[in-house]
Amino acid sequence: MAQIGTDVQKAKDFLEAGKVIGLPTETVYGLAGNALNPDAVLDIFKVKNRPSFDPLIVHTDSIDKVESFVTRIPEPARRLAERFWPGPLTILLPKKPIIPDLVTSGLENVAIRIPNHPMALKLLALLDFPLAAPSANPFGYISPTTARHVADQLGDQIPYVLDGGSSTVGIESTIIGFVEGGPIVYRLGGMTLEKLESIVGKVSVRSHSTSNPKAPGMLSSHYAPRKPLFLKTPEQALATHKPERIGVLAFDAMTRLIPLENQQILSVTGDVSEAAKNLFAALRALDQSNVDVIIADLLPETGLGRAVNDRLRRAAFK
Ligand code: TXA
Ligand code: MG
Repeated sequence: MAQIGTDVQKAKDFLEAGKVIGLPTETVYGLAGNALNPDAVLDIFKVKNRPSFDPLIVHTDSIDKVESFVTRIPEPARRLAERFWPGPLTILLPKKPIIPDLVTSGLENVAIRIPNHPMALKLLALLDFPLAAPSANPFGYISPTTARHVADQLGDQIPYVLDGGSSTVGIESTIIGFVEGGPIVYRLGGMTLEKLESIVGKVSVRSHSTSNPKAPGMLSSHYAPRKPLFLKTPEQALATHKPERIGVLAFDAMTRLIPLENQQILSVTGDVSEAAKNLFAALRALDQSNVDVIIADLLPETGLGRAVNDRLRRAAFK
């Protein structure tokens, strides 16, 4: 069983020995291994039960180091990196051969991010290699936002989870690329479109396709709880289920139609960032509770509300 701890040196020792560990970041916890070591990378795919056609994000701690992994950084990408790294933004850049093909699933671009988490940054600064890290959940399930979530789900397969507290952003990074010239967002996430557009102008969003070759991980079944989730009102759900069998994921207000203990409120003040931070833990709690179905509210389509809604739509039962 994985040990949970705050010992950065211990995490470093495991990684240098080629092991895979749980890594805290501000978005979600990662399942991290030496990105330059194909055996460690293979292990990540195995532990996560992830198909090898779904590429991994490479994490590092400085733009100087990024230069050694990529052949070039387009000018708008550099402006984003300088403004928003460390932070919840992943940029697709043309890779150098030092990055194993396994990491990018054979694609020419590598996804790179500098996470904004003090413990992750401290660890990355101590290492002489970058860390490949997908979210530390079994493939297709809800992403983890605490060390406990990681240990509960993957603990029997990894030696250590570095505990950096609850992730403060709570939703995965935004993925952006400049492959076809202009900026394209392939996954909505912790960095809002508003902020990106303030630096690079209008960006197009292409994250809803289920057959998107640029981000093959964006399958519509992603981020799903095991219980069916519907984007329905309590009234609609009550047509088919008893109140005590219904779980509610609400944005900012309770309903009187469903027992209180079956309800998770994401932000009582109606703050979309707070809602994003609480989303995955709330979904997990409902999934583990004694209900048969989960119903969810969509958030206002602004700021992080857009990324939360994207996750809810993907999780929704069709
Ligand atoms: O916030 C995050 O990004 C977290 C933390 C741990 O950093 N990581 C994360 O990784 O969400 P993962 O593997 O769950 O999602 C990465 C997504 C996948 O959908 C994958 O398809 C896409 O990034 N991706 C990775 N490398 C890519 C590449 N070279 N080209 C296109 N898409 C890529
Ligand atoms: Mg993931």
